[in-house]
Amino acid sequence: MRWCSVLLWLLVLRLGLHALRGLLPPGSLRGAAQGVSSVCRATYGRFFVGPGDEYGRRYSSFPAGLRLEMREMARSMFAFGYDNYMKHAFPEDELNPILCQGRGPDTLNPSNLNINDVLGNYSLTLIDALDTLAVMGNATEFQKAVRLVIDTVSFDKDSTVQVFEATIRIMGSLLSAHIILTDTKQPFGNMTLNGYDNELLHMAHDLAVRLLPAFENTRTGMPYPRVNLLKGVPPDSLNHTCTAGAGSLLVEFGILSRLLGDSTFEWVARRAVRALWSLRSNDTGLLGNVVDIQTGDWVGKQSGLGAGLDSFFEYLLKSYILFGEEKDLDMFNEAYKSIRSHLRRGRKACNEGEGDPPLYVNVNMLNGQIMNTWIDSLQAFFPGLQVLKGDIEDAICLHAFYYAIWKRYGALPERYNWQLQAPDVSFYPLRPELVESTYLLYQVGNLCTFSSYTILSSTILFQYM
Ligand SMILES: *[C@@H]1O[C@H](CO)[C@@H](O)[C@H](O)[C@H]1NC(C)=O
Ligand SMILES: *[C@@H]1O[C@H](CO)[C@@H](O)[C@H](O)[C@H]1NC(C)=O
Ligand SMILES: *[C@@H]1O[C@H](CO)[C@@H](O)[C@H](O)[C@H]1NC(C)=O
Ligand SMILES: *[C@@H]1O[C@H](CO)[C@@H](O)[C@H](O)[C@H]1NC(C)=O
Ligand SMILES: *[C@@H]1O[C@H](CO)[C@@H](O)[C@H](O)[C@H]1NC(C)=O
Repeated sequence: MRWCSVLLWLLVLRLGLHALRGLLPPGSLRGAAQGVSSVCRATYGRFFVGPGDEYGRRYSSFPAGLRLEMREMARSMFAFGYDNYMKHAFPEDELNPILCQGRGPDTLNPSNLNINDVLGNYSLTLIDALDTLAVMGNATEFQKAVRLVIDTVSFDKDSTVQVFEATIRIMGSLLSAHIILTDTKQPFGNMTLNGYDNELLHMAHDLAVRLLPAFENTRTGMPYPRVNLLKGVPPDSLNHTCTAGAGSLLVEFGILSRLLGDSTFEWVARRAVRALWSLRSNDTGLLGNVVDIQTGDWVGKQSGLGAGLDSFFEYLLKSYILFGEEKDLDMFNEAYKSIRSHLRRGRKACNEGEGDPPLYVNVNMLNGQIMNTWIDSLQAFFPGLQVLKGDIEDAICLHAFYYAIWKRYGALPERYNWQLQAPDVSFYPLRPELVESTYLLYQVGNLCTFSSYTILSSTILFQYM
């Protein structure tokens, strides 16, 4: 509980939702300052081994000069991507880097879901970049981009997109940019725009209304995975959805409802979460990865922390942090307990005792039996979630495991076989999960006034590298 409060502002920063502080339960930030140092001492006491050993020497410091150099490098990589998108691809959704030209939906092949789920012919990259421009402190470009979105983007398009992707990428970006524009505190520098009249909020509302048909005519209340922005749910739509797709909409839908004062959106998102939750196994408490939205039957019985389930858990906790509804926390805590008892294998402590270092595996939701021997790179979000939960020790441990894989290959393989200790699927589509976990752990290090590299200097790394 305390860590949720302590780390609240981190989440708020990540989402760019500063104004939402006003929507949070009073007092949720209280106690943030007190208690930090005692929690730090209790949690890290035995991890903090100092620069005495080899790992300490390699990882315990990150010189200020190097940090600034890295920051500039990140900034120029972003500018390179953004500028070239604007030059070669805008107003299309994204830049095809091989052909150096714009790319939108694959209209010739509607079943090319890899592309069509995400690209809606709505200048996706520009919208997605809004909050990053603000975080980079680039007020001129942020304001220019906001204008461009307002003046050129329309959702009145014959595009069939995935409800989940449109929600997290488009609705989330519009809402966070709206909040950045209207925040009285302006933490990134003056990002306000003369004459701004809540246009981005209206656009988010318009998009949400176009997504609503997905929630109609389903017997369980779980949404259809895809919807056409002009015509609603296409005839003969599949009734199968992944758990994450149906159950990670509450952050954006909840914020939209609260900003508009219209509970419809939060209500449909909550109904979907409740429906999923009611389908968890009575024996293990676990959920599967694919479900039928009409019958409630589990089509995919694999339970795990990666593809198909990941953000379902993330949104339970982040929704609680944002909205303060105890029910969300209760569900999260119960899910977390099931995860700990059925997915976690290996020894109890991270770096002492008998057995292998701990790992979260994929199991059958009904009996907890292992279904395969791979983990995927999406799972790397989990240490960050554990930070928010306050399970710092396990977070450090799991993060070190992913970091060791990263160090070995220079990126996270999409799937890594922990039995063979080799990649099963070798591509890396620039996923942000490990970075988010690293960032949250880094902030814990800051709160506790030592660097996360010091955390990593514990003998944990020795187990994996
Ligand atoms: C803001 O972004 C634009 C576009 O990437 C770039 O040309 C400009 O130099 C940036 N300004 C600052 C101060 O970083
Ligand atoms: C994108 O939308 C525009 C109209 O705004 C239309 O002319 C164009 O054909 C669409 N492109 C695709 C790939 O759907
Ligand atoms: C912020 O910028 C706007 C113009 O975009 C200006 O009207 C306003 O006075 C500025 N506010 C502050 C506090 O500097
Ligand atoms: C989806 O479920 C509905 C209602 O049970 C059914 O009428 C429809 O045929 C199903 N669609 C597919 C593609 O199976
Ligand atoms: C769990 O138990 C309840 C009551 O016994 C039953 O109605 C429900 O179908 C069971 N759920 C599952 C997923 O087995």
